[in-house]
Amino acid sequence: MSATPIPESAALRAALAAAPEDRIVFDLGGIEERYETLRRELPDVLVRFALKACPVDEVIACLAHLGAGADGASPRELEQALRAGVPVDRVHYGNTVKSDRDIAEAHRLGVDTFATDSVEDVAAIAEHAPGARVFCRLATTGEGALWGLTGKFGCSPADAVRVLETARESGLTPAGLSVHVGSQQMTADAWHSALEDLADLLAVLGRRGITLDHVNLGGGLPALGYLDRYGTPLDPPIDKIFAVIREGMRHLKEVHGAHLRFVMEPGRHLVADHGAIRARVTRLAERRGPDGEPQYWLYLSCGKFNGLYEMDAVQYRLHFPTHPDPTHVPAVVAGPTCDSDDAYPSDQGLVRVPKDLASGDPVWVLSSGAYAISYMTQGFNGFDPLPYTVTNERRP
Ligand SMILES: Cc1ncc(COP(=O)(O)O)c(C=O)c1O
Repeated sequence: MSATPIPESAALRAALAAAPEDRIVFDLGGIEERYETLRRELPDVLVRFALKACPVDEVIACLAHLGAGADGASPRELEQALRAGVPVDRVHYGNTVKSDRDIAEAHRLGVDTFATDSVEDVAAIAEHAPGARVFCRLATTGEGALWGLTGKFGCSPADAVRVLETARESGLTPAGLSVHVGSQQMTADAWHSALEDLADLLAVLGRRGITLDHVNLGGGLPALGYLDRYGTPLDPPIDKIFAVIREGMRHLKEVHGAHLRFVMEPGRHLVADHGAIRARVTRLAERRGPDGEPQYWLYLSCGKFNGLYEMDAVQYRLHFPTHPDPTHVPAVVAGPTCDSDDAYPSDQGLVRVPKDLASGDPVWVLSSGAYAISYMTQGFNGFDPLPYTVTNERRP
């Protein structure tokens, strides 16, 4: 698989071109293709789509139809997965943070597999979901990822032994181990060291008489079509990442001896490059700041609070369909709200944009399908959340 982003499909381009108003469009054909590529690269891995990346019924149903399950982080997400047609035995509760009530609710829904990382959480699962299966999340450094996800989740190997032994003593099934190497993980090394830690821990657990049935390698697989904060393509080493994961799984099976299943919870990788926002130019303005230097600002109708929450860490590829051959000017790109966070950070590179952009001109924000719907405010400053549509043409 090439590290170059797959070009937007004809169906996605047509949907963006035809959209009369702002919206986010998801290309189900592209999402299916990304899923199938992932399955080809990692045939031993069962996919549990991380709902938080794109809690859209049509996307969840499309992936479920291909055999994917779902990783939910709250009873509401679990309910959505079931409603969208994911069989309950392919759904797990992947959040280590949950209240007694959340656990009881998930149990009532029939979900029987829970992430955990503390003995307190294990005690609560034993009480409110008796007999459930638990997998323990190991802490990782998050190094190499754009969003490290460190600190809040995961425990040390020594604590994992304690957590899984407590689970066994409480009548739960100690079923697995999990990691998350950080979202938009840019290095294969991160998986390498996580897989080494997992192998060491599986061996320790085996000596304690705990034989797990699965390892969950979490999310973190990257989107392919982002630009970094300065506008350079990120170009993650996806082929190397897959090769390291395959080799690590082979080693884990060897260490474990008994049958071992593998699960992953990709979110971003499946949907980011196959969703795009059709927005508008609010205004291209040139003004002098306190330093007296002239600066162009391109204000768009979408920004941090309505679709581009992650604009502090990445830049998106922009396409101006009504300006095929423009003269460019360097501009700071910002959203429409009356909030200064709603812009690419000031130390971030400027973006080359057509000089003659006018208010109302359409703009396509590409590779913006992950964490767009889920991180959208409920109309901050009176700017409505973006509606979504889906295209469902298979690619030729
Ligand atoms: C437990 C868990 N699994 C999976 C994911 C999805 O991660 P990504 O979108 O990087 O694949 C997340 C993201 O925060 C997560 O917290």
